[in-house]
Amino acid sequence: MSLPPIFDKLRLPIVAAPLFIISVPRLVIAQCKAGIVGSMPALNARPASLLDEWLAEITEALAAHDRAHPESPAAPFAINQIVHKSNDRLDDDMAMCAKYKVPLIITSLGAREEINQAAHAWGGIVLHDVINNRFAHKAVEKGADGLVAVAAGAGGHAGVKSPFALIQEIRAWFDGPLALSGSIASGGAVLAAQAMGADLAYIGSAFIATEEARADEAYKRMIVESDSDDIVYSNLFTGVHGNYLKPSIVKAGLDPDNLEQSDPSKMNFGSTRKPWKDIWGCGQGIGNVQAIEPVGTRIERMAREYVLARERIPLAA
Ligand SMILES: Cc1cc2nc3c(=O)[nH]c(=O)nc-3n(C[C@H](O)[C@H](O)[C@H](O)COP(=O)(O)O)c2cc1C
Repeated sequence: MSLPPIFDKLRLPIVAAPLFIISVPRLVIAQCKAGIVGSMPALNARPASLLDEWLAEITEALAAHDRAHPESPAAPFAINQIVHKSNDRLDDDMAMCAKYKVPLIITSLGAREEINQAAHAWGGIVLHDVINNRFAHKAVEKGADGLVAVAAGAGGHAGVKSPFALIQEIRAWFDGPLALSGSIASGGAVLAAQAMGADLAYIGSAFIATEEARADEAYKRMIVESDSDDIVYSNLFTGVHGNYLKPSIVKAGLDPDNLEQSDPSKMNFGSTRKPWKDIWGCGQGIGNVQAIEPVGTRIERMAREYVLARERIPLAA
């Protein structure tokens, strides 16, 4: 099956992943202008009423870009909705997405039929993120248009599956839009995701160390200085397993090699969610991130790496 037409405008087959706290309109606009899908969690707009302003800002900035550069229009943007039952803002945030006819909705933590139907009513497309084939089946049964396969090594709530296994199992029955998430940080890895059977690479951590990201300078620097040895997998911080920067755990006075297990019933993704502010999420792929730079520069480099990777593999060229 071919990708829906909204992906036709992409310069590279990349969806920038939504990042709690970090993704804000400035980052989303830079990503879309650079030619990849930009995204942010609705929950980053606090108070909830700020979402209206943010969606207006993104919509207007991208329309202005398209008027000024009709030859290289901006890529579409996505809003991430945490559909977990603890998210008490979900209905209001979906109503705001309907107001702006947000092109793409990315849902996480429990597929819901009515959310998919609501997005379809304004012409939106829904991608649901999953960590295994069973959840993938459930999401498609509930009406998601596409999937984000979150493999081992991803930042935030990562899975434990090899990307090879996960994409292979999903592609055995699903021919709709499929993005691969987990440790992708180079143009070569984007091509590898496509070679494996994914349509799109879904990239988070590599965008934290960019000028436009709303992250502490120390966090950005830690990413530049770290590699996969510095990533710890734990469920202590949100109740769901995820990957975090080891030096940030040490800085917070905890022992990264002896973290407690968390109680999943304490999961809270609503307006009263209190993140561990100084424990920094990050995936394993950051060995390729060597500077804090503008999003546009990072995408330029990935585009060059992508072309080089195609040349290296004659059959893919
Ligand atoms: C700091 C951080 C915050 C994240 N916040 C969210 C979030 O709010 N919603 C979500 O669906 N995924 C979130 N993720 C997961 C990403 O969307 C994506 O799956 C992941 O970053 C991809 O792996 P990578 O970081 O190795 O590229 C987050 C990841 C990180 C690193």
